[in-house]
Amino acid sequence: MDVQVVDHPLAKARLSELRDARTDNAAFRAALADLTLMLIYEATRDAPLATAPLHTPVARTVGYRLANPPLLVPVLRAGLGMADAALGLMPEAQMGFVGLARDEETHRPVPYMESLPATLAGRPVFVLDPMLATGGSMAHTIRLLTERGATDVTAICVLAAPEGVAHLRDSGLPVRVITASIDERLNDSAFIVPGLGDAGDRQFGAI
Ligand code: PRP
Repeated sequence: MDVQVVDHPLAKARLSELRDARTDNAAFRAALADLTLMLIYEATRDAPLATAPLHTPVARTVGYRLANPPLLVPVLRAGLGMADAALGLMPEAQMGFVGLARDEETHRPVPYMESLPATLAGRPVFVLDPMLATGGSMAHTIRLLTERGATDVTAICVLAAPEGVAHLRDSGLPVRVITASIDERLNDSAFIVPGLGDAGDRQFGAI
C-alpha cells in the first residue's frame, strides 16, 4: 500500500495550527481547508490529463483538464471541513457522502448515512477524513466503495496513526494514503497522539 506523507513547510505550519489547543473553531476550519488544498495538490500529481486546443489572447496553444475527475467522499462530520476546499480545486468533481460516528467504548464506526453513486467502476475516489486513527472508519468507507466497483481509492487524511495505516495495509483494500503526518500512536481512548484532538468537535463544537 502506498503511503505518502506531505511534509512541505507550508503543510507543517498549517498542521501546527490544527494541533495547537488554543486554535479556535473558525481558525481550525480555515487551517483545515488550507491543508486540504495541499493534500489534494499532491494526491492529483499524477492524474491523467485530457488536452484540447485553445486560444490565448495572443496565440493558439494546448489546454489541459483532468481526464477523469475523482468522486469526492467526505466522511461526516469531520470530513465536511475538507469538502469545499477539494471541490474548489476540482469544480467538475462529483460528491458522495458517508456518515459515521465512532462508538466511544468499542471505537468501532457506527454508520448513520450513505449517499453514493450506484456504480463506481472506472472512477477514482478520494475519501476525505482528517483522522485515520484505528482505521475502522476508513476501512468501512472503502468497503462501501469497493462494493460498488471502485478499484482506485485515495484516503486523504490530515493525520494518521501507525495503527490505522497497518489496519488498511492488512485489509488488502485498494487504497493509497496521503497524509500530512504519521503520528506516534493511539492512546487508550483510540485518540491519535500527539494528534489534534477530535477534528469534528474542533470544527463544529462538541455534541
Ligand atoms: C473521527 C474521525 C474519523 C474517525 C477516525 O470521527 O473524523 O471519521 O473518528 O477514527 P477511526 O480511524 O478509529 O475509525 P468521529 O467518530 O469522532 O465523528 P465526527 O467526525 O462526527 O466527530
